[in-house]
Amino acid sequence: MHTSAIPPGPAEGFDIGGSEESLARLQDYFARFGDVYRVFAPARGVFNYVINHPDDIKRVLLTNHRNYTKGEGMDRVKILLGNGIMTSEGAFWRRQRRMMQPAFHRRVIDQFSTLIGEVNEKFAQRWAEHCARGEPVNVSSDTSELTLEIVLRSLFGSDLRRLEHQMGANPFEVVAKQPNRDLKFAFQFRSLGKLVGELIQNRRHAPEEHFDFLSMLMLTRDRESGEPMSDKELIDEVLTLIVAGHETTAAALTWTWYLLGQHREIAEQLEAEADRSAASVMSLAAAESMSFTHQVLQESLRLYPPGWLISRRAIEGDELGGFSIPPRSDVFISPYMLHRHPAFWSDAEQFKPERFSDVEANERHKFAYIPFAVGPRHCIGENIAMFEMLVHMRTMTRQFRLKRATSEPIEFEAQINLRPRSNLMMTVTTR
Ligand code: HEM
Repeated sequence: MHTSAIPPGPAEGFDIGGSEESLARLQDYFARFGDVYRVFAPARGVFNYVINHPDDIKRVLLTNHRNYTKGEGMDRVKILLGNGIMTSEGAFWRRQRRMMQPAFHRRVIDQFSTLIGEVNEKFAQRWAEHCARGEPVNVSSDTSELTLEIVLRSLFGSDLRRLEHQMGANPFEVVAKQPNRDLKFAFQFRSLGKLVGELIQNRRHAPEEHFDFLSMLMLTRDRESGEPMSDKELIDEVLTLIVAGHETTAAALTWTWYLLGQHREIAEQLEAEADRSAASVMSLAAAESMSFTHQVLQESLRLYPPGWLISRRAIEGDELGGFSIPPRSDVFISPYMLHRHPAFWSDAEQFKPERFSDVEANERHKFAYIPFAVGPRHCIGENIAMFEMLVHMRTMTRQFRLKRATSEPIEFEAQINLRPRSNLMMTVTTR
């Protein structure tokens, strides 16, 4: 095919990612136009490009990643996260990523095992109380609170308690309690930056030993200049980690409980694996050795990837799937669509954790599954996310069985994250 070929696409215009309808449109367009197509975007007055083939995704996110910035959608996210690692670009992003990477090393993550265990035990206690009272649990809000507590305690350590004490409540609670991600929330959230700034100042004036992400971020130095991060940089990174670290993980856990509620036989296999696990505080290695639980989480992330839409902007023109992509085009990748691509997944709508057994996974195209993205900008928190999700499933399935409290179908909310539109309520029984 000649490289100047223009990809097919619908006659009508549509802003992908701009509204709730995006997921339905992506499904429709994929059925009509396949792996590469273009859609006129009225908001920018140019064509957007959508790619669904793993080879093209590999090119954009990995082999030719230098030709792409984050592009569309980042302006909105920047209001919330400032110039943190999620939204920054170029040399500055590279510096931040290099400085932050060691804090997410497996050896470091492993040291959060007690914290992750404790927070899960606390929520198990809560679920036991619901069970005793015969009240359903709100899985959406409980997983949101749980993952928020893990990210806050891993960031601030003992300072979190101090802050709660001082202020009479956890000032970051708003993040889990207020689900709307509108401008009002952005304003409330950014004002928390002041608090983080004060915390940083206190630590600078009264240095004491801390083991948490904040202290690691304060200690890390730029390889070339030897400089630490400024207060502003620290604040943006802390706020970024709070949002990036908690919403996605909470959505993934909610979807997993939803799927388990529909598949009793798989829940039983999970329970059996949880019962076999011995350690009271799970190390990262022990958590990862629960291979069936791992497969269940992977399969849940396949069907409902919280990061359902990834966007990049081409700097120079590119060629994808034999079609030419003009300079400055926005290119969209939807893990949701990719994870259901019929050429790479059989019975794609079915929940089948065994797809992730070594034998099956090894035969699959390596880039057909990207819940944490791939390439240099892949999720920095993947290991800690998997760790806390494994420990959560294990802690809860050892003690409880969950069933949907109502039977109406779940509707999607596909904003920045993919999550169920209404709260997932489930009844809990002890095993
Ligand atoms: C199940 C949970 C999670 C999922 C599905 C997820 C997914 C993703 C995806 C798809 C990206 C790439 C976004 C893009 O390139 O546009 C990403 C980036 C990122 N994630 Fe996660 N994430 C999860 C948990 C976490 C956690 C726990 C943390 C931190 C504690 C975290 C921190 C980040 C950061 C900082 C980035 C930006 C990295 C960069 O641009 O260099 N994530 N995540």
